Amino acid sequence: MMEPDLISQADHIPVLLEPILENISPVGGVWIDATFGAGGYTRALLDAGAEFVFAIDRDPNVFSLAENWVDQYTGRIELINDVFSNLEKYADSVDGVVFDLGVSSMQLDQANRGFSFSKEGPLDMRMSQKGSMAADLINFASEKTLSDILYFFGEERASRRIAKAIVARREKELFVTTTDLAKLIETVLPRSKPGQSHPATRSFQAIRIAVNKEYKELFDGLFSAEKVLSSGGYLVLVTFHSIEDRIVKRFIQARTGKLHSTSRYMPGTDDIEAQFTKVTRKAVKPSIDEISINPRSRSAKLRIAKRTNIKPGQSLDLEELNVPIVGGY
Ligand SMILES: C[S@@+](CC[C@H](N)C(=O)[O-])C[C@H]1O[C@@H](n2cnc3c(N)ncnc32)[C@H](O)[C@@H]1O
Repeated sequence: MMEPDLISQADHIPVLLEPILENISPVGGVWIDATFGAGGYTRALLDAGAEFVFAIDRDPNVFSLAENWVDQYTGRIELINDVFSNLEKYADSVDGVVFDLGVSSMQLDQANRGFSFSKEGPLDMRMSQKGSMAADLINFASEKTLSDILYFFGEERASRRIAKAIVARREKELFVTTTDLAKLIETVLPRSKPGQSHPATRSFQAIRIAVNKEYKELFDGLFSAEKVLSSGGYLVLVTFHSIEDRIVKRFIQARTGKLHSTSRYMPGTDDIEAQFTKVTRKAVKPSIDEISINPRSRSAKLRIAKRTNIKPGQSLDLEELNVPIVGGY
């Protein structure tokens, strides 16, 4: 019998793989898979003709999943346990970089990782398994920081009420498990109607983003990818929620010379030379068929750009890309 926490590669179905391959074909050269996970994209790239893939993931657990197939690609793949903001350390000129952001199905499904509000586990949520855990944030961050994280990272409108309730409860007893926190959130928010997401969905997303400093990682990762892409190289990004997609969209707008600056301190980029051209005109979403096979793909959006000019791009700051940063997160 399968143990509930046993993970297998079959648990993760690569998202939007078909449109990715269609848009980057013919596939060749050296690629970076910045979010290796179960290796779905890495394998697809190698099978489609990539000569070599640097396969990065911050989660040290993911690589054991690849043990049974990685030997088929000897000499064509390097597995790297690191954050993608460091990708420049491993390669300096590549033909493509692909990011499939967020958590994998395996991470969500393992109760002991603490990512899921519906599975009892420790309040952990660290992809890298290093640093502070979600429990540290929930039990010790100020009410204001908690509220800002829920609001800016999870777009949770009831952020203040939830943060207040968390602080009141932790004064009596600290939070230990995921379900403990989920139940508290359920008491603050109205019960969800059929078809709506669980009341703790946005809060859990926000806390996970903070624990893993995901927005700062994405911001740094985009510039690192840009530095290593050679002329004609592809930047491929799959996002899973609106804030993430907005950052990616604004980066591509800026680099294709189309970002109209909203800051009065910043020059517009209209007259700035473009570094990229758009390959996908708008975000590509999964088809109804893909969603029916893989419901977790439903919020995915794909954007692809191609490097056309290898001059360094103009520097952009967090504000210009609309990256929300709360405290040190
Ligand atoms: C959605 S999964 C990728 C799935 C993969 N494309 C596949 O087909 O199997 C995202 C993966 O990215 C990793 N990840 C997220 N943020 C990262 C970062 N900043 N640096 C490196 N890996 C990261 C996670 O640990 C997770 O394994």
